[in-house]
Order: sequence, then structure tokens, then C-alpha cells
Amino acid sequence: MKTTKRILVLIVALACLMSVMSLAACDKAGGKGTKVGVAMPTQSLQRWNQDGANMKKSLEEAGFVVDLQYANNEVATQLSQIENMITSGCKVLVIASIDGSSLGNVLADAKKEKIPVIAYDRLIMETDGVSYYATFDNFKVGELQGKFIEEKLDLKNAAGPFNIELFAGSPDDNNALFFFNGAMSILQPYIDSGKLNVVSGQTDFATIAINEWKTERAQNRMDDLLTANYATGTKLDVVLSPNDSLALGIANALEQGGFVPGTNWPIVTGQDCDVANMKNVIAGKQSMSIFKDTRTLADKVVEMVKAIIEGTTVPVNDEKTYNNGVKVVPSFLCDPVFADVNNYEDILIKSGYYTADQLA
Ligand code: BGC
Repeated sequence: MKTTKRILVLIVALACLMSVMSLAACDKAGGKGTKVGVAMPTQSLQRWNQDGANMKKSLEEAGFVVDLQYANNEVATQLSQIENMITSGCKVLVIASIDGSSLGNVLADAKKEKIPVIAYDRLIMETDGVSYYATFDNFKVGELQGKFIEEKLDLKNAAGPFNIELFAGSPDDNNALFFFNGAMSILQPYIDSGKLNVVSGQTDFATIAINEWKTERAQNRMDDLLTANYATGTKLDVVLSPNDSLALGIANALEQGGFVPGTNWPIVTGQDCDVANMKNVIAGKQSMSIFKDTRTLADKVVEMVKAIIEGTTVPVNDEKTYNNGVKVVPSFLCDPVFADVNNYEDILIKSGYYTADQLA
């Protein structure tokens, strides 16, 4: 009897100890089981899969419970996913919007429930329901693309003129204009002086923008540009592409148009360092891509979520650039860099972002 009692006491003590230990572990993790909703636009682009997976992993490691949803690039789907996150008890929302201006009503509901919202990568427009913005410096992304072109063509010294065509991203994505303005801050003076010649004459954002960032639409526009302006042997020196999904379409059109890497293939820019595009960089069909390490952004967002939940100061480093039409949204801007055929092994493989096999 005595022994049984002792065993019982021991079991109870052990159980107490374990529960204290697990509470401590939870406390250390910070998340304490708090539910966070993460709404991503689509799984059709590699980057958003990586963003979602990295954020889920980092948030879970910090002790949060994560509701991660992809919306197949459909605005209505994203709206109902966010609505569900609100009603199912998420305490913070992280949203990479599809159409930045379509979330006003659902974010008004979030605000009523006092749920802070972090706009992820893309700013959410025309609402005071967004609390913070975490992204890469979008103007700098464009600037890096412009500077790459400036350097490769030696625009500061060469006589030129060089022929260029311009592409921009989806007009419903606030980032698209930042990318374009960043690139044009470098290229416009050369266009004005005639050193860069846009043979098609198509330079305004509305004309060169590609809805929904679609590869096929970029391919069609590049086809048309080639047929109308380059069919009789006019040299094409460079194509400004804001990101990788467009750069893929542009490369397809160039290939079909008979361009050959290493001979008459133009400089083509990009962004995201998607696997297919880095393979194109290695094959000479794309000249560079902007690297935005999704691990860095995910970690920053986890820091922000933790600070919100713990009531400490949320890290931001820009409180003037991102006006969403209703308010200036306090932002954290991470630093983008470019990868090309000369540095990609250091930047992408040695950093553990990709294995050499993935790019082989
Ligand atoms: C992102 C880019 C991405 C594009 C298309 C932009 O908002 O910043 O990284 O390539 O959307 O998904």
C-alpha cells in the first residue's frame, strides 16, 4: 500500500514537472499557441510557396498555430479565406494580397475585432485596417535592375545608341509601379539623351504593364514587339523585365523568334530567383534576377507578430514611403541584391537557399 502511494505521488509530481516544463517551453517560444492567419496569393509561382512555407515554419517554431491559405490568384477566394481566419479566432493576420485595393471591407471586420494586419510583400491599399507592412525595398529592386543594365551596356561611357523594350508588372499590385519607377530612375536619363532607344515607342506604365504577372501575356507582348519592330534585323540590346514570371515569357518569345544565347540574345532582367529562371541565367537566356531571400522576410514577420502579441515595439525602418491612400503604413524594408551567372553560386547555393542539384 505504502509503495503504491509513493508511486502515485511520484507520478503526480512527474506530471506537474512536465507541465511546468512544457509551459516554460511555450513561454520561451513566445507564441503560446496563439493562432495566426497567413493569406498568400497563389501557389502557381514558386516564390509564394517558399514565402508561405518559410513563414509557417518560423511561426510554428516560435510557438504559434498557423492557418496558411493560398487563393489561386482569385480575389473572392482570398476574401473568404480572410473572413474565415477572422471568425476562427486568428489574433494576427499576415496577408500578401492579390488585388491590393480589394480588401477594404474584410479588413474593416478585422479592425472591429481588433486584429492587427501585416501586409506581406505587397501593400494593402485604401484602408486603415492595415497596421504594418513587411517587404523588400521595392524601389531598390527596380534600381538594381536599371543599374545592372547601365553597367552591362557601359552606358556611362559607351556611345550607343542601344535598343531597349520595357515591361512592367500587374497594375493592381502596388509594387509594380515601385519596380518601374526604380528602374526608370536609372534608365530615363539615357532614354531622354537618346543613348537608349525604345524602338516600339511604348514607355508608359499602362501600355507596358502585364496583368496578373502572367507569363503567357508577357510572351504574347514580346512576340508582338518582335514582329512589329525587330523582324527586319534591327538589333535588340535589352529587355527590362520586372520579375521572373515575365522574364520566362520574354525568353520563350525570343527563343521562338530565333534569338540565340551568346550571340544576339539581349540582356533580360528579372526578380525572385525562381529555379526555372536561374536555369535560364545559367543557360544565357536571362541576365540576372533580384534575390529576395524569403527566409529573411519570414523571420522579420515573425518578429513583428511576436512584438504585436507581446505588446513590445514592432520593428520598422521606414515610416514615410508607403502611403496606401488612407495612411502611411509603418514598414520594414529588407534589402534586395542581384544574382547573375557570376555570383549565383555564392548567393543562392552557399547560402543554402538552393542545392546545386536543384539548379543543375
Ligand atoms: C512581388 C514579386 C513577384 C510578383 C509576382 C510582386 O508583388 O514583389 O516578387 O514576382 O509580385 O508574383
